[in-house]
Amino acid sequence: MKQPILVIGGAGYIGSHVVRMLTQQGYQPVVLDDLSKGHRQAVAHVPLEIGNFGHPEILSGVFKKYDIGAVIHLAAYSEVEESVHQPGKYHQNNTAYVQTLLEVMAAHHIKHVVFSSSAAVFGEPTEPQLSENHPCAPLNPYGASKLAAENLFTQAQASQGIHTAILRYFNAAGADESAEIGESHSPETHLIPLLLQTAAGKRPHFTLFGTDYPTPDGTCIRDFVHVNDLASAHLLALAYLFKTQQSQTFNLGSETGYSVAQVVQMAKEVCGIDFPLQIAPRRPGDPARLVASSQRAQQLLGWHPVRDLKHIIQTAWQWEQHRRY
Ligand code: UFG
Repeated sequence: MKQPILVIGGAGYIGSHVVRMLTQQGYQPVVLDDLSKGHRQAVAHVPLEIGNFGHPEILSGVFKKYDIGAVIHLAAYSEVEESVHQPGKYHQNNTAYVQTLLEVMAAHHIKHVVFSSSAAVFGEPTEPQLSENHPCAPLNPYGASKLAAENLFTQAQASQGIHTAILRYFNAAGADESAEIGESHSPETHLIPLLLQTAAGKRPHFTLFGTDYPTPDGTCIRDFVHVNDLASAHLLALAYLFKTQQSQTFNLGSETGYSVAQVVQMAKEVCGIDFPLQIAPRRPGDPARLVASSQRAQQLLGWHPVRDLKHIIQTAWQWEQHRRY
């Protein structure tokens, strides 16, 4: 019998897909989530403890109650623009609480953790595809808070014998093929859900930020990776930690860049709806191009994202039409 896995932030978008896959593959996930961003309906069939992971007594209680064997930590604030206006909130939740998590893990002899990081740690790319060795110079407090947390996890290997798989997501998108869970942010700021909400008539138009970038069609290029491909990386990362007892960092993307204009076009095709578009100036802090090199994840984890952009948009569109939360 495998020991239960604590998924902190498991009621959120990516977390709920990880939880679902853990269950499907015979693990026993337990969710700790304060439901500030997450949704109870997203984790209807697994134990849910409602609380904030920054409180040591809450963490300790959950570790003891369920005899937790490892942690997947996804709870974070992730709005770039909000982070510029409220950097303290990001420092506290995304970085300082990680120190608390590590201390409580050490006290309970829990030695393995998978940590959700972000391509936001890199800043402006200097190479066409970003490998793990690309310099980190975050452009905003969100990226800085994730990078500082990465450093805490890395240091914990030597100081506390805790091994971490750091997963740097590129643009997570799409929804579970069942359409029972999916993306639901408030406010929503991400490209694909906004396009589909416009197609569904919930927004009057879609606003495209910037057509004067140094890219072939002038719009930003991003690397979209399906949320279930990301979820599978978490399970592979857990197995890697148990096997190697080594910390490691992985960039998770499809290695394929699509421009915002291409995504708009594909969304219109998938939905069969020609929704209204407005062009606006650049959004501050958007790098022109962010595309991953995921060679390390392919080689060390055997991770191969298999769902393409069309499938991403199709599943997100199914979710948009049937969403329960
Ligand atoms: N975009 C629009 N209009 C919108 C929303 C987005 O044109 O209404 C454009 C953005 O300008 C950007 C692209 O669509 O060029 C993608 O934007 P998203 O907000 O969907 O995603 P980001 O690439 O900005 O953000 C992602 C993650 C963040 C992470 C960041 C790293 O969601 O958590 O990559 O730069 F910080």
